Amino acid sequence: MAVCKILAFAACLVALVPCSLPSFADEPAAQIARPLSRLPAHRGAIASAYPLASQAGQEMLAAGGNAFDAAVAVSAALAVVEPTSSGLGGGGFYLLHRQADGFETMLDAREKAPDAATRDMYLDPAGNPIARASVAGPLAAGIPGEPAAFDYLARRFGKLALKESLRPAIRLAREGFPLYPRLQAAIRYKRELLLRSPDAAKVFLTPEGGVPELGAMIKQPDLALTLEAMASQGAKGFYGGRVAQDLVNGVRAEGGIWTLEDLASYRVIERKPLVGNYHGARIVSASPPSSGGVALLDALNILAGFDLKQVDSGTRKHLIVEAMRRAYRDRAVYLGDPDFVAMPLALLTGQDYAAGQRSSIRLDKAMPSDLLPGIETAPVALHTTHFSILDAGGNRVAGTLSVNLYFGTGEIVPKTGVLLNNTMDDFSIKPGTPNVFGLVGNDENAIAPNKRPLSSMTPAFVETPRGLMIFGTPGGSYIISMALLGTLDYLNGMSAAEIVKDPRYPHQYLPDVIEYEKGALSPSEISRLEAMGHKLEEGSRPWGNMQVITWDFASGKVEAAADPRGEGEGLIY
Ligand code: DON
Repeated sequence: MAVCKILAFAACLVALVPCSLPSFADEPAAQIARPLSRLPAHRGAIASAYPLASQAGQEMLAAGGNAFDAAVAVSAALAVVEPTSSGLGGGGFYLLHRQADGFETMLDAREKAPDAATRDMYLDPAGNPIARASVAGPLAAGIPGEPAAFDYLARRFGKLALKESLRPAIRLAREGFPLYPRLQAAIRYKRELLLRSPDAAKVFLTPEGGVPELGAMIKQPDLALTLEAMASQGAKGFYGGRVAQDLVNGVRAEGGIWTLEDLASYRVIERKPLVGNYHGARIVSASPPSSGGVALLDALNILAGFDLKQVDSGTRKHLIVEAMRRAYRDRAVYLGDPDFVAMPLALLTGQDYAAGQRSSIRLDKAMPSDLLPGIETAPVALHTTHFSILDAGGNRVAGTLSVNLYFGTGEIVPKTGVLLNNTMDDFSIKPGTPNVFGLVGNDENAIAPNKRPLSSMTPAFVETPRGLMIFGTPGGSYIISMALLGTLDYLNGMSAAEIVKDPRYPHQYLPDVIEYEKGALSPSEISRLEAMGHKLEEGSRPWGNMQVITWDFASGKVEAAADPRGEGEGLIY
């Protein structure tokens, strides 16, 4: 803690702003957005990472459900058809907007550390990190939050019963769905891991342990039973009774520390989303324990003081990277679970702080990250999922869900069909030790019983006088950079299809490198950025799987687009 406060103090000196620690802790969970009445009629839309999931949501809307019912159906269907990326064994964040009264809230369905978790649980007796301990096996799994969110969404916001909105997912789990290329590639990539869990091997591999052919039916009968228990008993069908007992037995048999009480005590927490402004646009995004909204607003506030339209494109990209660098550095130094740590959120998302940050940016020169006091780090991009929904009544959902890495730990708990997450790796297992995404953290994000690990997931709404965007993406630590680029693209007038396609150039403070996608930077921009002192590397694969809905208020036109890097589908109905 002491180290952190010193760093925080040093940061304030760098930023030339007073050090105070205001927090949002006392403010109500809800907030009211500007009502958008008397607008032309518009259609509903769903964009998600796989067509069967978008269709599951559409089924709910056709049955008289609203965006929140569709969010349950889409999430539950993704848990079945995109098991690499999210599931009942994982968690996430849902950003909600209810049109009738402008009520906005965030459902924090993030995994929590089991009660028996300890700060040093992934360190050896000498205090060194044990290789892969926070990503492999049930000890790496937090207590899941996604099932609780289904129940909460249906009861508090939906029009349909949970048994209705879970119906498509139950059908897909029981009857199966045809194996598609991206899932087949993920199975091939993680085959060794899946072979170690007999239940995962039964679902995802052939009886001989091979990779199934494209089009082979992937059936998950145990998962169908778990979903049915939820359909009839709500959250209790997962966090209590037979399923909870099987989860605890399965996890403990493999060295995990879950208890029945850990499951029974899990609750979704409604939190106030973060709201900011950028050149007249209203930005709404995730609050801690996600770092996404803080970092997005921090970066936008820094950029608001530059005229990005007047500078050449190399300088524009330089400034955007410098804003990313500073926002990610603040993430590493200050952020964690708001129920455990006091955070200077108002400071970090305020204009004075941004002015201080901006004053340390030169127009002609990159600032090396190690000149910003912070912490020390190799990024990888694996998986998570995002979906966006707008219904014809104007209700909106931006949901980002995860099991952390591809297939989480890769272990399916016997008799439950539930793939365990490895989200405990999102904690800082030791100050300064990078996680799998190369992210570093401090005491604020240290492990503690029942604490929620810091996330980068950034579901967001961007609202201007002329229209609205609902969006988000997977991409590990690069999520925040992609959210920033997506916001700027929308505000520059790009369509939903253009935004999801646009090549990306993330920077995450440490490692101090712009790892750009092919085509994101022109040869002249590359030379210009290098001349300013930026380190550049062309990434070996594409970043993200962004799902965007846009709504033009004047014409009522709605667009839904899924990232061409994935196999998703944007549907208008
Ligand atoms: O919450 C987080 O920030 C991570 N667990 C997200 C992981 C992720 O996006 C992996 N995807 N590419």
